[in-house]
Amino acid sequence: MVIERDIESHQLTTFRTRGAVVRELYRLGSLDDAIAFASEIAPKTSHWLVLGGGSNVLLVRSIPCAARMEIADRSVVEESSTRVVLRLGGGLSWHSCVEWAVSNGWAGIEAMALIPGTVGAAPIQNIGAYGQQLSDVCRWVEGVEVPSGRAVTLSAAECRFGYRDSVFKRQRKGAFIVTAIGIELEKRTEAHVAYDELARRLSDRRSVTIGDVFEAVVAVRRSKLPPDELGSAGSFFKNPVVEPDVASALLERFPTMPHYQQNGAVKLSAGWLIEQCGFKGVRRGDAGVYERHALVLVNHGAARGADILTLADEIKAAVRERFGVELEEEVNII
Ligand code: EPU
Repeated sequence: MVIERDIESHQLTTFRTRGAVVRELYRLGSLDDAIAFASEIAPKTSHWLVLGGGSNVLLVRSIPCAARMEIADRSVVEESSTRVVLRLGGGLSWHSCVEWAVSNGWAGIEAMALIPGTVGAAPIQNIGAYGQQLSDVCRWVEGVEVPSGRAVTLSAAECRFGYRDSVFKRQRKGAFIVTAIGIELEKRTEAHVAYDELARRLSDRRSVTIGDVFEAVVAVRRSKLPPDELGSAGSFFKNPVVEPDVASALLERFPTMPHYQQNGAVKLSAGWLIEQCGFKGVRRGDAGVYERHALVLVNHGAARGADILTLADEIKAAVRERFGVELEEEVNII
């Protein structure tokens, strides 16, 4: 197992914030590496984490130990005339798997193009975009338990997926390293479009393929989300889900507020709430709110993790005061 020492936080996460150091970084290139890390190294340190692409993490404080998942094999493990089951290594880039699927005519993840990060990070927050989420296609998650080092396979049901949520953020938090996932896709090229903005973009076509959806998502994301040069971790907060009576009372005061029914509750748009509080494009030193999407916090250069956190707290307080709604971070804050 390769070990690197004293790595600065700006080299480890897509936020590229400064002010924190990882003392030892273990690179996990095989299941054996993951087992050794889980059973021998992680239990002996006060604080550890596994980094995939570092795309959903804000490092605020230095930590003694981290691991980078680098298992990168992929294969077709089952195939019929209508479906395929893929096994994807935790260290693969998620987007490269989406490209692989679309180019082979396997449908089910094409709307999740360009989501930054690795396959291993995907089940932790149940990644999703434009009407698709990982839990729609996930069959199982393989990993290693900490501290026993036991290799286990969890069924999708055992992963308890929810909106940006899973067992890996709850009961198994800090106690599981994802090494691979299994997903089942359909062999078809015509697409099912389940998101208004995408449907509008594709409305001039007679029939829409999964390749069209892939390209449209790439175009939308490039137009709304920050370019790679600008540090960020995508959406910083989750969209808040509130009781119907709370939503009705808000809608009386703010009739244009975007809202979506979700299993008997109502999902609000955190980006809208934040924009209404006047934060879109705001800057506090090098910590800022992206000018084209208020849900995305950005690092304009030399922001420290703590600077981003201070801005996030200011935003939460403003949204609480104006709307009585509590925003919850989507990004993992260390
Ligand atoms: N909006 C504003 N102002 C803004 C941003 C958004 O008013 O600055 C309002 C608009 O009315 C828009 C609505 O918010 O119609 C929804 O915006 P958008 O379609 O951009 O989606 P989102 O709810 O802000 C979620 C995910 C994104 C994902 C998109 C598309 C969460 C926390 N975020 O954002 O995921 O790409 O939907 O499906 O659920 C991520 O998780 O990092 C991420 C980028």
